[in-house]
Amino acid sequence: MIYLDNAATSRPKPPEVIQAMNDFLNDVCANSGRSGHRLAIQASRIVYEAREAIAELFNVADPLRVVFTMNATESLNLAMRGSLYPGDHVITSSMEHNSVMRPLRALEAQGVEVTVLQCSEQGFLYPGDVDKAIEPHTKMVVINHGSNVTGSLAPVEEIGLITRECGLFFVLDAAQTAGAYPIDTQKMNVDLLAFTGHKSLCGPPGTGGLYIREGVRLEPLKWGGTGSRSEEEYQPDFLPDMYESGTPNLVGIAGLGAGIQFVMREGVKAIRKRERDLTQRLIDGLLDISGVIVYGDLNADHQIGVVSFNIVGVSQSDIGLRLDEEYEIMCRVGLHCAPAAHKTIGTFPDGTVRFGLGTFTTKEEIDMAIQAVRNLAKDG
Ligand SMILES: Cc1ncc(COP(=O)(O)O)c(C=O)c1O
Repeated sequence: MIYLDNAATSRPKPPEVIQAMNDFLNDVCANSGRSGHRLAIQASRIVYEAREAIAELFNVADPLRVVFTMNATESLNLAMRGSLYPGDHVITSSMEHNSVMRPLRALEAQGVEVTVLQCSEQGFLYPGDVDKAIEPHTKMVVINHGSNVTGSLAPVEEIGLITRECGLFFVLDAAQTAGAYPIDTQKMNVDLLAFTGHKSLCGPPGTGGLYIREGVRLEPLKWGGTGSRSEEEYQPDFLPDMYESGTPNLVGIAGLGAGIQFVMREGVKAIRKRERDLTQRLIDGLLDISGVIVYGDLNADHQIGVVSFNIVGVSQSDIGLRLDEEYEIMCRVGLHCAPAAHKTIGTFPDGTVRFGLGTFTTKEEIDMAIQAVRNLAKDG
């Protein structure tokens, strides 16, 4: 079986991730940050070590400014819903996932002004357009780092300079890049970094987080027990407790911590280089097939390991089904939760076939996938 749906969730998970989750359930299985016995302390230590690993990976000075969530979607909701109010203006791009678009449309209905900047047909955002869209009431720029449709990388350093100079919040949706592409929150001037644990960080589903820069204050999405300041009926005002009410996904966080350790041991730069080379190999192989259209820049230096294509005259669902049934290749077809991105690249409403590469994807798998698409294109 060839798994090319890593943009949806990564597979397989490294053995140490599964081991860490098993170990947690077998050996610890206590709540964190609440009781004082040895097992509870062990659970708290596992959570703190995962927080520290995330901080190291994204160059965050204070691990306590990393908040655990369920996924990138919850992190993005916290970043946007926690800081935008009627009368505020927010800038985003036409390549966003619905995890950005839907919260923004909901906020728009409450009186937040939303500007969606048109990206190029290849899926790229021009930093100059961000600059031009800024108004006196602009509060935030929110964009994805790597598109889940074309893989196109956003000009984050340029946008980070603009937002810093203008005093705006810069929210980066790193769902597709965390663990697959170097992220330095200081160098990129990112104020709020939303990431998910189950893609290139190699963790289990149901894990994610938000880095919140010092000085940025968000309204929580939920209030409740945190294990701290139990004498008070009011929410603690310190991080991470302020945003982590209720028992966290401890098994998931144990797995995520192990996943990040795996990523750091492999090295993000090395992972990126491998994926870049395989991505270019895939793009070149697909471009060589008559009747196949590949979307995006077609240059792997400018994108992550996400490649969208179509076969002229063949429906995406037929391609997906035949890849699965005849070639045992798992991929995703359709709109990938990003209708605006497909309108941008001209593939709405049918969408594309998407191959999502991962840390464990091999050259042989890429070549077999290219051959399978070649056969399908020939059959028509
Ligand atoms: C660009 C982008 N943003 C956000 C998300 C949402 O991530 P999650 O499912 O972890 O909430 C995804 C998931 O595919 C994504 O690709």
